[in-house]
Amino acid sequence: MAKQTSEAFPMNGGNGPYSYAHNSTYQVILTAQREKASTELLIVLKEGVDSTKAKIQAAIAEKLDIKHLPSSLKTFTIADLGCSFGPNTFIAVQNIIEAVVLKYKSQGTFSSDVPEFQVLFNDHSSNDFNKLFESLSPEMPYYVVGVPGSFHGRLFPKASVHFVHSSYALHWISRVPPQVVDKSSPAWNQGRVHYASAPNEVLEAYSAQFSKDIQSFLDARAQEMVSGGLMTIIIPALPNETPVSQSTFGAVMDLLGSCFLDMAKMGLMSEDKVDSFNLPLYATSPKELEALIERNGCFSVEGMEALNRPMTHDAAYNAKLCLSHMRATLEGPIREHFGTEIIDELFHRFAEKSAMSSIFINSDGWAIDLLVILKRN
Ligand SMILES: C[S@@+](CC[C@H](N)C(=O)[O-])C[C@H]1O[C@@H](n2cnc3c(N)ncnc32)[C@H](O)[C@@H]1O
Repeated sequence: MAKQTSEAFPMNGGNGPYSYAHNSTYQVILTAQREKASTELLIVLKEGVDSTKAKIQAAIAEKLDIKHLPSSLKTFTIADLGCSFGPNTFIAVQNIIEAVVLKYKSQGTFSSDVPEFQVLFNDHSSNDFNKLFESLSPEMPYYVVGVPGSFHGRLFPKASVHFVHSSYALHWISRVPPQVVDKSSPAWNQGRVHYASAPNEVLEAYSAQFSKDIQSFLDARAQEMVSGGLMTIIIPALPNETPVSQSTFGAVMDLLGSCFLDMAKMGLMSEDKVDSFNLPLYATSPKELEALIERNGCFSVEGMEALNRPMTHDAAYNAKLCLSHMRATLEGPIREHFGTEIIDELFHRFAEKSAMSSIFINSDGWAIDLLVILKRN
């Protein structure tokens, strides 16, 4: 089976302070507890996690049509696409399984007749799959398969998956649009590392790439999922009609970009090197995403809503959270382009600028986390 290529930018592996494992939501709550963070903060963080869980469970209770599945079904297959290596993926999978079991029981199925579960953990082959497998609890109520490869192409056999979940992964585009690093193109993104605050041509190039990626993602899932199968997607997005230049997401990208430019001015890297680097991240909007799903035509949109984002009005804490999350997720592509030597200096500058910036005071304009529920027609 020919695999679709997609550039891989794995999250920081291992267990270090900037590892993804230590900077995902669940771990952030544990760290906040250890640091005796304010009760207000802990409540906000926990509410965020609990409400996401409740919304996914409600979607399964209301939308999963198990009568549509063969009564002889022995294995219910769940795929988590862009799973990284935990702990979020384990929490999400556990949550989905509990809700599916409840759904079966609510329809009068005896416990012994509920299908067994198989979970397909997918990410790029460079993901820290060893850590994922090492972290699996021996008591997990499911069979495990690791599936390396890009979710922008086919990963599984036809009509073999009943439930697809993907969280905080689809905003990574499969490649930086070539025009933005082409000096002869009107979309050349000189002096910036992202499309925030860039001319419209740059934004259009990113948006076109995102659109292609979503089409190939949906085309592949349409083949792999059974009819009536459900998909839950959590994706960071901007509210409709919010220009990226007016969002906190855009402001953070600009802040990071300014650290690169400062370092280039000081001779710590060349301006050419900055001009040829762009972050492969795109923030869609509910309207744009819905139009792309409609254009694909294989899925019905069963729900689309913003989740509670676990952020507070504690500016210092928000800045710190942003720094560690940015480092855990973006260090990979930055290191690949600029080398390891610049990493500490870059994020040190970013921390200093963040501490002085007003952008973290009001977390409301940050971005939204969009929960999208799709059903395979
Ligand atoms: C921010 S992490 C999210 C991890 C986990 N889903 C969570 O919610 O914590 C994004 C993950 O998506 C993966 N990813 C991005 N693009 C991908 C692609 N085209 N195919 C497979 N995985 C991808 C990255 O490697 C990374 O592990």
